[in-house]
Amino acid sequence: MDLYLDTANVDEIREIVQWGVLDGVTTNPSLMAKEKGDYKKLLKEICDIVKGPVSGEVLSLNADEMVREARDLSQISEYIVIKIPCTVDGLKATKVLAREGIKVNMTLVFSPNQALLAAKSGAAYVSPFVGRLDDIGNPGIEIVNDILTIYRNYNFKTKIIFASVRHPEHVRQAALLGVDICTIPYKVFIQLIKHSLTDVGIARFLEDWKKKID
Ligand code: E4P
Repeated sequence: MDLYLDTANVDEIREIVQWGVLDGVTTNPSLMAKEKGDYKKLLKEICDIVKGPVSGEVLSLNADEMVREARDLSQISEYIVIKIPCTVDGLKATKVLAREGIKVNMTLVFSPNQALLAAKSGAAYVSPFVGRLDDIGNPGIEIVNDILTIYRNYNFKTKIIFASVRHPEHVRQAALLGVDICTIPYKVFIQLIKHSLTDVGIARFLEDWKKKID
């Protein structure tokens, strides 16, 4: 499973890149709005650090405008993936962009049927928002499981990004399901490496080492 960081913060990205386990980054307008500076310059900086797929979202809602915005953003770097919301206009724009070889991450996906349409429109990635479904008492994992089955049934090449991750348990679920990618907020990412027994084990080894007989 590829691991992405769900952030627009370059310090967080630099830190996880150093771990040697980061495959890509997803941003969205809410995450970008938390950072200072120019939208396109920030996306370029993130691409240069990650050297892997970086999703940047369009702000337009109309298909023609989305296409224009996407073409412009795609000039930033070879790593840019265009995030497009799962709407009728989003499908129309994705069809055009896919024909031009521009990779689309269809975002804000909350149902298997939306994911089916995303794949048929030519989206390279689909992002079911698991945490937001869980938030309204609708188990997100079931939607992801259905999408996996549908994509396998018809051999769709669209990659599934398990998104809206709230806690490490989501990451475990994503890996057990066998999704292609999981995009994880920084605070959850750093929880993945932690275990109290690891800390206790290190402390005990070091204590024992101090008692080494010569
Ligand atoms: C995915 O690409 C989105 O940026 C993200 O996972 C949204 O998650 P949220 O529900 O925590 O905002």
